Amino acid sequence: MDNRPIGFFDSGLGGLTCIPHLTKALPEEKIIYFGDTARTPYGSKATSTIRNFSLQIADFLVQNDVKMIVIACNTVSATCLEDLQMRFPEIPVVGIIKPAVQRVAESCNEENRVGIIGTKVTIRSEQYKSLILNLRNDLNIYSTPCPAFVPLIEEGIIKNEIMDMCIKYYLDDFVNKNQIDTLVLGCTHYPLIRENIEKIYPELRIIDPSEEIINSIRTILEERDMFADNSEAENVFYASDLSENFTNMINTIFDSPNAKVMFKNLDIESAKALAEE
Ligand code: DGL
Repeated sequence: MDNRPIGFFDSGLGGLTCIPHLTKALPEEKIIYFGDTARTPYGSKATSTIRNFSLQIADFLVQNDVKMIVIACNTVSATCLEDLQMRFPEIPVVGIIKPAVQRVAESCNEENRVGIIGTKVTIRSEQYKSLILNLRNDLNIYSTPCPAFVPLIEEGIIKNEIMDMCIKYYLDDFVNKNQIDTLVLGCTHYPLIRENIEKIYPELRIIDPSEEIINSIRTILEERDMFADNSEAENVFYASDLSENFTNMINTIFDSPNAKVMFKNLDIESAKALAEE
Protein backbone atom coordinates (compact mmCIF):
# COMPACT_ATOMS: atom_id res chain seq x y z
CA MET A 1 0.00 0.00 0.00
CA ASP A 2 1.36 3.41 -0.89
CA ASN A 3 -0.74 6.58 -0.80
CA ARG A 4 1.89 8.86 -2.31
CA PRO A 5 0.85 10.45 -5.62
CA ILE A 6 1.94 9.35 -9.09
CA GLY A 7 3.95 12.03 -10.90
CA PHE A 8 3.06 12.71 -14.54
CA PHE A 9 4.69 15.17 -16.89
CA ASP A 10 4.55 16.40 -20.46
CA SER A 11 5.67 19.42 -22.47
CA GLY A 12 2.15 20.81 -22.09
CA LEU A 13 -1.43 19.65 -21.88
CA GLY A 14 -0.96 16.51 -24.03
CA GLY A 15 -0.17 14.26 -21.08
CA LEU A 16 -3.57 15.13 -19.61
CA THR A 17 -5.02 12.68 -22.16
CA CYS A 18 -3.70 9.84 -19.95
CA ILE A 19 -5.55 11.08 -16.87
CA PRO A 20 -9.15 9.99 -17.65
CA HIS A 21 -7.85 6.47 -18.38
CA LEU A 22 -5.99 6.45 -15.06
CA THR A 23 -8.89 7.76 -12.97
CA LYS A 24 -11.21 5.21 -14.59
CA ALA A 25 -8.90 2.22 -14.13
CA LEU A 26 -7.33 3.20 -10.80
CA PRO A 27 -9.66 5.71 -9.11
CA GLU A 28 -7.84 5.63 -5.75
CA GLU A 29 -4.58 6.91 -7.22
CA LYS A 30 -3.66 10.57 -6.77
CA ILE A 31 -1.75 12.63 -9.30
CA ILE A 32 0.82 15.38 -9.45
CA TYR A 33 1.08 16.60 -13.03
CA PHE A 34 3.55 19.08 -14.50
CA GLY A 35 2.88 20.53 -17.97
CA ASP A 36 5.75 22.63 -19.29
CA THR A 37 3.42 24.95 -21.20
CA ALA A 38 5.92 27.82 -21.10
CA ARG A 39 8.42 25.81 -23.16
CA THR A 40 6.19 23.65 -25.34
CA PRO A 41 6.62 22.22 -27.95
CA TYR A 42 9.51 19.89 -27.16
CA GLY A 43 9.16 17.87 -30.34
CA SER A 44 11.35 20.04 -32.57
CA LYS A 45 14.03 20.85 -29.96
CA ALA A 46 17.54 19.42 -29.51
CA THR A 47 17.83 16.20 -27.51
CA SER A 48 20.09 17.92 -24.95
CA THR A 49 17.46 20.62 -24.37
CA ILE A 50 14.68 18.07 -23.93
CA ARG A 51 16.87 16.12 -21.50
CA ASN A 52 17.62 19.23 -19.39
CA PHE A 53 13.97 20.23 -19.23
CA SER A 54 12.88 16.70 -18.34
CA LEU A 55 15.46 16.27 -15.56
CA GLN A 56 14.36 19.59 -14.02
CA ILE A 57 10.73 18.49 -13.98
CA ALA A 58 11.50 14.99 -12.72
CA ASP A 59 13.57 16.50 -9.86
CA PHE A 60 10.58 18.63 -8.94
CA LEU A 61 8.25 15.60 -8.94
CA VAL A 62 10.63 13.53 -6.84
CA GLN A 63 10.93 16.43 -4.41
CA ASN A 64 7.14 16.21 -4.11
CA ASP A 65 7.49 12.60 -2.97
CA VAL A 66 5.91 10.81 -5.93
CA LYS A 67 5.93 7.00 -5.83
CA MET A 68 6.35 6.70 -9.62
CA ILE A 69 7.20 8.97 -12.55
CA VAL A 70 5.08 8.58 -15.68
CA ILE A 71 6.55 10.21 -18.77
CA ALA A 72 3.28 11.22 -20.43
CA CYS A 73 5.20 12.40 -23.47
CA ASN A 74 6.45 10.35 -26.42
CA THR A 75 9.17 12.88 -27.25
CA VAL A 76 10.70 12.62 -23.77
CA SER A 77 10.23 8.83 -23.68
CA ALA A 78 12.04 8.58 -27.04
CA THR A 79 14.98 10.70 -25.91
CA CYS A 80 15.63 10.30 -22.20
CA LEU A 81 13.74 7.46 -20.54
CA GLU A 82 17.03 5.80 -19.59
CA ASP A 83 18.54 9.04 -18.26
CA LEU A 84 15.59 9.43 -15.93
CA GLN A 85 15.69 5.77 -14.87
CA MET A 86 19.39 6.11 -14.06
CA ARG A 87 18.92 9.33 -12.10
CA PHE A 88 16.16 7.84 -9.92
CA PRO A 89 17.02 4.16 -9.51
CA GLU A 90 14.75 3.84 -6.47
CA ILE A 91 11.61 5.13 -8.23
CA PRO A 92 9.89 3.37 -11.15
CA VAL A 93 10.00 5.58 -14.26
CA VAL A 94 7.51 4.55 -16.96
CA GLY A 95 7.76 5.63 -20.60
CA ILE A 96 4.81 5.74 -22.97
CA ILE A 97 6.27 4.08 -26.06
CA LYS A 98 6.78 0.49 -24.90
CA PRO A 99 3.16 -0.11 -23.78
CA ALA A 100 1.92 1.05 -27.20
CA VAL A 101 4.51 -1.09 -28.98
CA GLN A 102 3.23 -4.06 -27.01
CA ARG A 103 -0.34 -3.39 -28.20
CA VAL A 104 0.80 -3.15 -31.85
CA ALA A 105 2.75 -6.40 -31.55
CA GLU A 106 -0.17 -8.23 -29.94
CA SER A 107 -2.97 -6.92 -32.13
CA CYS A 108 -1.54 -6.70 -35.67
CA ASN A 109 -0.90 -9.37 -38.28
CA GLU A 110 1.51 -9.39 -41.23
CA GLU A 111 -1.21 -8.03 -43.54
CA ASN A 112 -1.61 -4.84 -41.50
CA ARG A 113 0.09 -1.63 -42.56
CA VAL A 114 0.92 0.31 -39.42
CA GLY A 115 1.49 4.08 -39.47
CA ILE A 116 3.21 5.92 -36.62
CA ILE A 117 2.70 9.67 -36.29
CA GLY A 118 4.50 11.88 -33.78
CA THR A 119 6.78 14.85 -33.32
CA LYS A 120 9.95 15.26 -35.39
CA VAL A 121 12.10 14.08 -32.48
CA THR A 122 9.97 10.98 -31.81
CA ILE A 123 9.86 9.95 -35.47
CA ARG A 124 13.56 10.68 -36.05
CA SER A 125 14.45 8.49 -33.03
CA GLU A 126 12.81 5.49 -34.77
CA GLN A 127 12.00 4.09 -31.33
CA TYR A 128 8.54 2.91 -32.30
CA LYS A 129 9.75 1.27 -35.48
CA SER A 130 12.73 -0.52 -33.97
CA LEU A 131 10.90 -1.69 -30.83
CA ILE A 132 7.98 -3.02 -32.88
CA LEU A 133 10.28 -4.79 -35.33
CA ASN A 134 12.19 -6.33 -32.41
CA LEU A 135 8.98 -8.04 -31.36
CA ARG A 136 7.42 -8.58 -34.78
CA ASN A 137 9.71 -8.35 -37.78
CA ASP A 138 6.86 -9.43 -40.07
CA LEU A 139 4.96 -6.14 -39.68
CA ASN A 140 4.94 -3.26 -42.19
CA ILE A 141 5.76 -0.05 -40.33
CA TYR A 142 5.65 3.47 -41.76
CA SER A 143 6.11 6.75 -39.92
CA THR A 144 5.80 10.47 -40.48
CA PRO A 145 6.23 13.59 -38.31
CA CYS A 146 3.34 16.06 -37.88
CA PRO A 147 5.08 19.04 -36.20
CA ALA A 148 2.25 21.59 -36.52
CA PHE A 149 -0.29 19.53 -34.57
CA VAL A 150 1.04 20.32 -31.06
CA PRO A 151 1.14 24.16 -31.37
CA LEU A 152 -2.40 24.17 -32.81
CA ILE A 153 -3.69 21.87 -30.05
CA GLU A 154 -2.03 23.95 -27.30
CA GLU A 155 -3.86 26.96 -28.81
CA GLY A 156 -7.15 25.06 -28.65
CA ILE A 157 -7.51 24.98 -32.46
CA ILE A 158 -9.09 21.55 -32.56
CA LYS A 159 -12.69 21.28 -33.68
CA ASN A 160 -12.41 23.35 -36.81
CA GLU A 161 -11.38 23.30 -40.44
CA ILE A 162 -7.84 24.64 -39.86
CA MET A 163 -7.05 21.48 -37.90
CA ASP A 164 -8.78 19.30 -40.50
CA MET A 165 -6.71 20.91 -43.27
CA CYS A 166 -3.55 20.36 -41.26
CA ILE A 167 -4.45 16.68 -40.74
CA LYS A 168 -5.02 16.22 -44.46
CA TYR A 169 -1.78 18.05 -45.27
CA TYR A 170 0.26 15.60 -43.19
CA LEU A 171 -1.76 12.42 -43.58
CA ASP A 172 -3.50 12.22 -46.98
CA ASP A 173 -0.48 11.02 -48.95
CA PHE A 174 0.95 9.10 -46.02
CA VAL A 175 -2.23 7.08 -45.43
CA ASN A 176 -3.16 6.57 -49.08
CA LYS A 177 0.23 5.82 -50.64
CA ASN A 178 1.23 3.43 -47.88
CA GLN A 179 -2.30 1.99 -47.54
CA ILE A 180 -2.16 2.47 -43.78
CA ASP A 181 -4.91 0.60 -41.90
CA THR A 182 -3.65 1.03 -38.31
CA LEU A 183 -2.52 4.39 -36.94
CA VAL A 184 -0.55 4.88 -33.72
CA LEU A 185 -1.03 8.31 -32.13
CA GLY A 186 2.63 8.66 -31.10
CA CYS A 187 2.20 11.96 -29.28
CA THR A 188 0.02 12.45 -26.21
CA HIS A 189 -1.51 15.60 -27.71
CA TYR A 190 -2.99 13.64 -30.62
CA PRO A 191 -5.89 11.89 -28.81
CA LEU A 192 -7.37 15.41 -28.67
CA ILE A 193 -7.71 15.30 -32.48
CA ARG A 194 -8.66 11.63 -32.64
CA GLU A 195 -12.25 12.47 -33.60
CA ASN A 196 -11.04 14.69 -36.46
CA ILE A 197 -8.79 11.88 -37.73
CA GLU A 198 -11.58 9.30 -37.42
CA LYS A 199 -13.96 11.58 -39.31
CA ILE A 200 -11.49 12.08 -42.20
CA TYR A 201 -10.22 8.45 -42.29
CA PRO A 202 -13.09 6.34 -40.89
CA GLU A 203 -11.47 3.09 -42.02
CA LEU A 204 -8.38 3.48 -39.81
CA ARG A 205 -7.95 1.53 -36.58
CA ILE A 206 -6.42 3.85 -33.99
CA ILE A 207 -3.98 2.80 -31.25
CA ASP A 208 -3.74 5.36 -28.43
CA PRO A 209 -0.61 5.07 -26.22
CA SER A 210 -2.26 7.32 -23.57
CA GLU A 211 -4.64 4.43 -22.95
CA GLU A 212 -2.04 1.66 -23.18
CA ILE A 213 0.31 3.18 -20.58
CA ILE A 214 -2.25 2.49 -17.84
CA ASN A 215 -1.51 -1.26 -18.11
CA SER A 216 2.17 -0.62 -17.33
CA ILE A 217 1.30 1.61 -14.40
CA ARG A 218 -1.05 -1.04 -12.98
CA THR A 219 1.51 -3.81 -13.41
CA ILE A 220 4.22 -1.88 -11.56
CA LEU A 221 1.89 -0.90 -8.71
CA GLU A 222 0.81 -4.52 -8.42
CA GLU A 223 4.33 -5.97 -8.51
CA ARG A 224 5.55 -3.57 -5.83
CA ASP A 225 2.39 -3.63 -3.72
CA MET A 226 2.06 0.12 -4.17
CA PHE A 227 -1.67 0.64 -4.85
CA ALA A 228 -3.23 3.59 -3.00
CA ASP A 229 -6.30 3.17 -0.84
CA ASN A 230 -6.88 6.75 0.23
CA SER A 231 -8.94 9.08 -1.90
CA GLU A 232 -8.69 12.06 0.46
CA ALA A 233 -5.72 13.85 -1.11
CA GLU A 234 -6.04 16.36 -3.93
CA ASN A 235 -4.90 15.91 -7.51
CA VAL A 236 -2.51 18.76 -8.26
CA PHE A 237 -1.81 20.08 -11.75
CA TYR A 238 1.08 22.48 -12.32
CA ALA A 239 1.73 24.35 -15.53
CA SER A 240 4.79 26.51 -16.15
CA ASP A 241 2.47 28.97 -17.92
CA LEU A 242 -1.09 28.24 -16.89
CA SER A 243 -3.38 28.69 -19.90
CA GLU A 244 -7.14 28.67 -20.19
CA ASN A 245 -7.00 25.56 -22.38
CA PHE A 246 -5.03 23.74 -19.69
CA THR A 247 -7.46 24.60 -16.87
CA ASN A 248 -10.50 23.95 -19.07
CA MET A 249 -9.21 20.52 -19.92
CA ILE A 250 -8.67 19.63 -16.26
CA ASN A 251 -12.16 20.90 -15.39
CA THR A 252 -13.61 18.72 -18.14
CA ILE A 253 -11.73 15.63 -16.91
CA PHE A 254 -12.86 16.13 -13.29
CA ASP A 255 -16.40 17.13 -14.09
CA SER A 256 -17.78 16.52 -10.60
CA PRO A 257 -18.34 19.02 -7.78
CA ASN A 258 -16.76 16.50 -5.37
CA ALA A 259 -13.55 16.14 -7.34
CA LYS A 260 -10.53 17.30 -5.36
CA VAL A 261 -8.46 19.12 -7.93
CA MET A 262 -6.13 22.06 -7.75
CA PHE A 263 -4.17 23.77 -10.49
CA LYS A 264 -1.28 26.15 -10.06
CA ASN A 265 0.98 28.25 -12.16
CA LEU A 266 4.57 27.34 -11.32
CA ASP A 267 7.34 28.77 -13.45
CA ILE A 268 10.26 26.45 -13.93
CA GLU A 269 12.75 28.58 -11.95
CA SER A 270 10.50 28.38 -8.88
CA ALA A 271 10.02 24.66 -9.49
CA LYS A 272 13.81 24.24 -9.65
CA ALA A 273 14.26 26.26 -6.46
CA LEU A 274 11.62 24.14 -4.72
CA ALA A 275 13.32 20.95 -5.92
CA GLU A 276 16.70 22.17 -4.62
CA GLU A 277 15.41 23.20 -1.17
N1 DGL B 1 2.90 15.41 -25.94
C1 DGL B 1 4.20 15.31 -26.46
C2 DGL B 1 4.56 13.97 -27.04
O1 DGL B 1 3.90 13.04 -26.67
C3 DGL B 1 4.84 16.52 -26.80
C4 DGL B 1 5.04 17.13 -27.96
C5 DGL B 1 5.77 18.43 -28.07
O2 DGL B 1 5.92 19.15 -27.10
O3 DGL B 1 6.21 18.69 -29.19
O4 DGL B 1 5.44 13.82 -27.83
